[in-house]
Amino acid sequence: MQDFKGKTAVITGGASGIGLGLAEHCAELGMNVVLGDIQQDTLDQAVEKVEQRQASVIGVITDTMVKTSVANLLREATTAYGNVHLVFNNAGVAAGNSAGKAVWEAPDEDWQWVMGVNFYGVLYGVQTFIPHMLEHGEESYVVNTASLAAVLPMGGSYGVSKHGVLSLTESMQSDLQQRGANIRAGVLCPGFVDTQIFAAERNRPGAEQNHTDPDDPQYEVVKAMLANGKSPAEIAEYVFDAMAAEQFYMLPHPAWDNFVSSRTEQILARQGVATMDMMTMLERSAKGEQF
Ligand SMILES: NC(=O)c1ccc[n+]([C@@H]2O[C@H](COP(=O)([O-])OP(=O)(O)OC[C@H]3O[C@@H](n4cnc5c(N)ncnc54)[C@H](O)[C@@H]3O)[C@@H](O)[C@H]2O)c1
Repeated sequence: MQDFKGKTAVITGGASGIGLGLAEHCAELGMNVVLGDIQQDTLDQAVEKVEQRQASVIGVITDTMVKTSVANLLREATTAYGNVHLVFNNAGVAAGNSAGKAVWEAPDEDWQWVMGVNFYGVLYGVQTFIPHMLEHGEESYVVNTASLAAVLPMGGSYGVSKHGVLSLTESMQSDLQQRGANIRAGVLCPGFVDTQIFAAERNRPGAEQNHTDPDDPQYEVVKAMLANGKSPAEIAEYVFDAMAAEQFYMLPHPAWDNFVSSRTEQILARQGVATMDMMTMLERSAKGEQF
């Protein structure tokens, strides 16, 4: 897909971080922009920011964990702009409460929330927007945000949810191809990006909120590495280049390629799980290597 001007993009999790970066890039290209997000105040601010780029934009309060809410996002988008051509199923969270916990220790509520937003949120986006795109038949693109956690071992509930997104998107791509659909697919697998994901608990529904333990050393490591990561604008630029080149696997952090290879090697060698030491990564990051 090369020609974006006048087309319509929907971005879930569009009020912050990578989603907002993608939205601003869409605006620069002259697209109509629809931001779906669960947080009202940041959504309003994001709409203002995107408007400053002379784009036509609306914000729609959306909880991607709820299928009817995603259906409403489509309804609002088509009411405002007609056909939708580009969808970023991007909203995602990480559970602070699970940090440092074994998979059997992490509370069920964490698993339900993380799988609910990260996996089911993307699934609902696919179930909602693909039939709409098939129906209108115009050239379209769907990019699902996974993570490098989708191609690396470990990561607890977050890693499980992102493996799910990768697998879902691979199946989706194959299904689209078999049906000769005019829709392309991509899966975005970033390493660290300087966003607010370390504070994802801010949008957790119900009473189980703010589990992030600021004294947890692993939390500090992750926060520092995020701050040292790529900017959302860099990720957005990478994604649009990848779309122009029709790349399915979108991996904007080549510094991690060796980790991805070593996982595959371990699998093919029938060996144990390849491990990665966060402290070593942080030291390398402190020396200027960008993850
Ligand atoms: N930041 C990173 O280093 C990184 C790395 C790999 C992948 N990712 C992925 O990128 C995506 C975007 O995250 P980010 O880093 O920009 O974080 P962020 O916290 O800055 O932005 C996430 C946005 O999603 C919204 N959101 C949360 N729950 C929602 C829900 N139920 N329904 C709708 N919106 C919801 C939040 O309000 C927020 O605006 C996520 O899928 C995340 O897993 C991030």
